[in-house]
Amino acid sequence: MTQQKYAVFGNPIKQSRSPYIHQQFAAQTSQAIEYTTIEAPLDQFAAKTAEFFQAGGMGANVTVPFKEQAFDICAQVSARAKQAGAVNTLIKRADGQVHGDNCEGIGLVGDLFKKKVVLAGANILLLGAGGASRGVIMPLLDQKPTGLIITNRTLSKAQALVDEFAQTDFSAASGEQLSDTVFDVVINATSAGLSGHVPNIPSQCLSEDTVCYDMVYAKDTTAFNLWAEQNGVKTTYDGLGMLVEQAAESFRLWRNVEPDTHDVLAALRRDL
Ligand code: ATR
Repeated sequence: MTQQKYAVFGNPIKQSRSPYIHQQFAAQTSQAIEYTTIEAPLDQFAAKTAEFFQAGGMGANVTVPFKEQAFDICAQVSARAKQAGAVNTLIKRADGQVHGDNCEGIGLVGDLFKKKVVLAGANILLLGAGGASRGVIMPLLDQKPTGLIITNRTLSKAQALVDEFAQTDFSAASGEQLSDTVFDVVINATSAGLSGHVPNIPSQCLSEDTVCYDMVYAKDTTAFNLWAEQNGVKTTYDGLGMLVEQAAESFRLWRNVEPDTHDVLAALRRDL
């Protein structure tokens, strides 16, 4: 059987776990696919994706730094890609047109769901107001939390997102304003951890029952999760599960079959 072509575009891309994840999904579900990495030069994303689809590519993932540019090459984009302001999944339709979607928010919610973290009725704090935050706001609000509060080092950026989304259960707060509230779930969507920093929020926001989720992942406990544990939090997760769940959503969109994420996540964790 001819293998259908899929790929992930990024720069750099060597570190990507996506080929492993999709090859595992394909083996599990008997799908004949090939999935490779493509490192597009920074100024050649549109040309490289056009080449890929012309050569028979059926779908692709897109990662840093091309997720915003990916918007522009799509004939249509989904509502959730519009809300995220970024596309991380490209799908070639039967008519040859390329459709853009964003699976990251559903990846986060799907991972929290698998971990039995209750979002309905929860008081959620979201840290950071960049691209990573933007993509998870609507999927989190769709779970009907009591409230979603966003805070950011630069508060005006958090306020701008609140104004843009205009949802009654979504508001912005400064670090000082947060000190009276204990949250059920705190999600770190900042890139502070990449430089070993922790967002500056009061430890009074945490209790031992708070669930802390760091959207980045690492072999060892991330800086944010370590800080949370040092402040009494018993349940912390990193973003490896989100990575696998967003991949599963891309795979469903491309192949219309449901992969199992459990064993793939366990294998990735072992090899980190
Ligand atoms: P991404 O697409 O990963 O979200 P981004 O758009 O550059 O990347 O956003 C990075 C986020 O991490 C921002 O919210 C940023 O805060 P500012 O808006 O104030 O820049 C946050 N961030 C980065 N480094 C941080 C640090 N050391 N402490 C706190 N927040 C930090």
